[in-house]
Amino acid sequence: MSTVGQLSFSPRLLLGPGPCDVHPRILSVMAMPVLGHLDPEFLTILNETQELLRGAFQTSNRLTFPISGTGMAGMETCMVNLLERGDRAVVCVAGFFGERMAEVASRTGAEVTRLEQPWGQVFDPQRIREALQKVRPKLLAIVQAETSTGAWQPLEELGALCREFDALLVVDAVTALGCIPLAIDEWKIDAIYSCTQKGLSCPPGLAPVSFGPRAAEAMGKRKTKVQSWYLDLSILQRYWGEDRLYHHTTPITMMYALREGLRLLHEEGLRPRWDRHLRNHKALAAGLVALGLSYTAAEGHRLPQLNVVRIPDGVDDGVVRKRLLDEFNIEIGSGLGSFKGKAWRIGLMGYNSRPAVVLQFLAALEQCLQAQGVKGAPGRGVAAANDFYSSQK
Ligand SMILES: Cc1ncc(COP(=O)(O)O)c(C=O)c1O
Repeated sequence: MSTVGQLSFSPRLLLGPGPCDVHPRILSVMAMPVLGHLDPEFLTILNETQELLRGAFQTSNRLTFPISGTGMAGMETCMVNLLERGDRAVVCVAGFFGERMAEVASRTGAEVTRLEQPWGQVFDPQRIREALQKVRPKLLAIVQAETSTGAWQPLEELGALCREFDALLVVDAVTALGCIPLAIDEWKIDAIYSCTQKGLSCPPGLAPVSFGPRAAEAMGKRKTKVQSWYLDLSILQRYWGEDRLYHHTTPITMMYALREGLRLLHEEGLRPRWDRHLRNHKALAAGLVALGLSYTAAEGHRLPQLNVVRIPDGVDDGVVRKRLLDEFNIEIGSGLGSFKGKAWRIGLMGYNSRPAVVLQFLAALEQCLQAQGVKGAPGRGVAAANDFYSSQK
């Protein structure tokens, strides 16, 4: 007989780099009965989800749907379908996820040129132009929201630049969708992937992707089969197209979640959603600065949904994060790669981008910092955030 008891755990507030807390409305749809993946009523749900996703991505791309898997499955889908042995790719690397893109791209057998920038910085279009001119790649890959550094890469000019050099633009929007502006058609993005567990406030499990006409044309001209059967869009799109041909058993419950997450986004409106993230970020930033913390990314390139700040000298990373978790039930992220032990990653994504969360977190962090010897007027973090909110009224 098993002695394993009923599932039970502490009620966490997820303020790391993702997942974030799941919106209560999403949790409730996830308790609905499972339909068959070819049930006509489920197929309507798929159509609705695709339509909502096109709205969220601001695209009319036919090939817009979620891949079964997390953000990494989205990344692999883009790389394995668009690249084959002998192709050339330029991958922009300024953090952990740029590194990942370069690694995943190189596994296709393509010749990958890494365009590097110090962690925390963004790429200037002129540098990208020079790389495109020199390498003449089939694609350029770049991360819009680099989760390891909190840097916000502008994309507006890159689509036109890529077209000038006949290259495809592939974007990682895993930490971007539902938090900051993103417009696939206007910005001429050819392929993109995201996730469900961040700006959309769902659990992890699906990777929304979208491919434009230029990407579809490039896939049609492949000389070799895509090495992954599961992620081969030429087969997969037959389930997502008119035929509705069985490919694999869709994660039904996750599809309900994504549909509800997208409904929440559309009810709020894209612009109000982005503004909400910016407003709560500014309040948090005011509080963090008042507590003596500084951002790793330059002003103007900081992600509102992911605040990456330096750990003050003399403060123990592990002790603070453990106390936040044990005593306050708050999770924040540690630094990744070269930021390990040197930075914290504080996420205010989707459902968690709220004044109540900002104020609760600043109060808890202040206690932890004080215990580590950081001195200052009591309540200064919360006061600075409150001042910001009051100034906005
Ligand atoms: C920018 C970026 N790309 C890709 C990924 C991988 O996504 P996942 O962990 O959902 O597979 C992440 C995960 O946090 C990310 O932040």
